[in-house]
Amino acid sequence: MARILTGIQATGVPHLGNILGAIEPAINLANDPKNESLLFIANLHTLTSIKEPEVIRENTYAVAAAWLALGLNTERTIFYRQSDIPEVTEMTWYLNCFTPFPMLANAHSFKDKSDRLSDVNAGLFDYPVLMACDILMYDADIVPVGKDQKQHLEMTRDIAGSINHNLGKETLKQPEASFDENVMIVPGIDGEKMSKSYGNTINLFQTDKKLRKNVMKIVTDTTPLEKPKNPDTCNVFKIYKLVASDEEVATMRKNYEAGGYGYGHAKQELYEKLRDRYSEPRERFQHLMDNKHEIDQELEKGAKRAREIGRPVLSRLRKELGY
Ligand code: ADP
Ligand code: TRP
Repeated sequence: MARILTGIQATGVPHLGNILGAIEPAINLANDPKNESLLFIANLHTLTSIKEPEVIRENTYAVAAAWLALGLNTERTIFYRQSDIPEVTEMTWYLNCFTPFPMLANAHSFKDKSDRLSDVNAGLFDYPVLMACDILMYDADIVPVGKDQKQHLEMTRDIAGSINHNLGKETLKQPEASFDENVMIVPGIDGEKMSKSYGNTINLFQTDKKLRKNVMKIVTDTTPLEKPKNPDTCNVFKIYKLVASDEEVATMRKNYEAGGYGYGHAKQELYEKLRDRYSEPRERFQHLMDNKHEIDQELEKGAKRAREIGRPVLSRLRKELGY
């Protein structure tokens, strides 16, 4: 049985791109009984860029509520909040002392962020070491991440290797990264990749009225209603294809090609599809956000289980280090 672990950023309410591209596939992977899986919300990492306590708290809840609402099975997956495991920050100190300064200084993500952000703090610099502890503290075998995290995973392996070499003993387990080769890219309402940073998202977790308005903003061309249209170049159709059945997609294609079918019609169908397909998760999300103690209960249960795995690893390391 492989132990799979991954972390998710607490950057706000997940959008349709996050759901189709990351959350649903991860839930499917976690449901495979061959795996033991740990999934956590990296809300200590959030502090490197967000300093408002209320925003950190709300984002963490929103991310947790989305995963729970979309069907994460918390019996099978150990689901927790990074900040509920303070031991990870203790371990970060130990690993810091084995991490070469130039390795962090040359990290792509640090160089990129320190060029862009005005707040270049030591936490931002040390981000990869905290991330390494997130992984190494649980003896993880496999870490599924996006390609942008490749270097962070290499650093994790290097840091573990350096500790093991220094201590002359296999103290920390070196994990493998796993990259999904056929990740889908969900287009946003302007046709570019859907992303919070581009402000082109579709947010399922809002009222029907707002969701409809959100869908109506999808950018289309000016072909008049009565003219035939090319579905394959249309942003509405591209998104519809990702959420509708083959039959429904074939019908919409015919409608586009026949003419007399406007983009407004297509948007209305897409809106209804999203509303109906996600009706349960949307209701459940709202329920959880109105009853945050239920989210807390789930996350605390997960933290307890995570600590049972993590603490012995930390003790092992402390002992080997002479403490
Ligand atoms: P954003 O670009 O909105 O800031 P993140 O970088 O926080 O999103 O991504 C969180 C997860 O969601 C990652 O696993 C990422 O690959 C996935 N993801 C984000 N946007 C999309 C998209 N448009 N299509 C598919 N997957 C996406
Ligand atoms: N840095 C990761 C990201 O930006 C989030 C993360 C933090 C993570 N700790 C982790 C991912 C540990 C995998 C394992 O997406």
